Amino acid sequence: MGTRTTVPAVRGRKTAAGSPPLVMVTAYDAPGARVVDQAGADIILVGDSLAMVVLGYDDTLQVTVDDMAHHTAAVARTSPRALVVADLPWLSYHLTPADTVRNAGVLVRAGAAAVKLEGGRTRVPMVEALVAAEIPVVGHLGLTPQSVHVMGGFKVQARKAEAAAALVDDALALVDAGVFAVVIEGVPAEVAAQVTEAVPVPTIGIGAGPHCDGQVLVLHDLLGLDGGDAPRFVRRYASLADDAVRAVAAFAADVRAGAFPDESETYHLSRDPG
Ligand code: KIV
Repeated sequence: MGTRTTVPAVRGRKTAAGSPPLVMVTAYDAPGARVVDQAGADIILVGDSLAMVVLGYDDTLQVTVDDMAHHTAAVARTSPRALVVADLPWLSYHLTPADTVRNAGVLVRAGAAAVKLEGGRTRVPMVEALVAAEIPVVGHLGLTPQSVHVMGGFKVQARKAEAAAALVDDALALVDAGVFAVVIEGVPAEVAAQVTEAVPVPTIGIGAGPHCDGQVLVLHDLLGLDGGDAPRFVRRYASLADDAVRAVAAFAADVRAGAFPDESETYHLSRDPG
């Protein structure tokens, strides 16, 4: 295992300066974190996609700080080399800066090295409070899933020039407030390229084209673990849901045929009288 990824090391990763692209992958539990870390990702994101990917909700609005802390702790217990970033869930950073710091503190105590929050310049006071409390922050712009009702669904954002310019301004405001990286989700590639050029911290794209300083995918999407239709920006590198169904069906067939367990899988009484 190499050295641990740190916040300062991530902050400097601009591809225009010759850095290799950052790799961020979500994980929500210890086995997932081990897979992502052993594969060499730079950052493990304990995303609030937890709500949809693992807990079966239709959107990300249902998870709480306690839910996020529970899963962040499971990831952190694996002591990954990758940087652990945890999502601040909806309503945990929308009220006051003091609330925001308290909630982020719960995630840091659970094992996160940094937190991520969604939104642009309206979040500046919260980002400043977090940074003042020594909690590193990642921004998240574009298609921000916690705004699903405002957006009217999970739709590509900033398709028009005015919205694209506002997105660049939002990114600059977040950087001024102290974020060390910005996730850009669901925007045209040209817009992500503009943001990437405008900000001195790395951009990490998802559904935002190739011109970012890194890319992030949801672990279950890239492993083909959820079985459903994937959005256009997902590339599936495995079909684990199919493999898993086949494996469990083979177990069921063995049990029903009396073929499991066999002798090598069975304990017997000890012949040793002691
Ligand atoms: O919650 C999540 O998984 C995310 C990624 C999609 C960036 O925020």
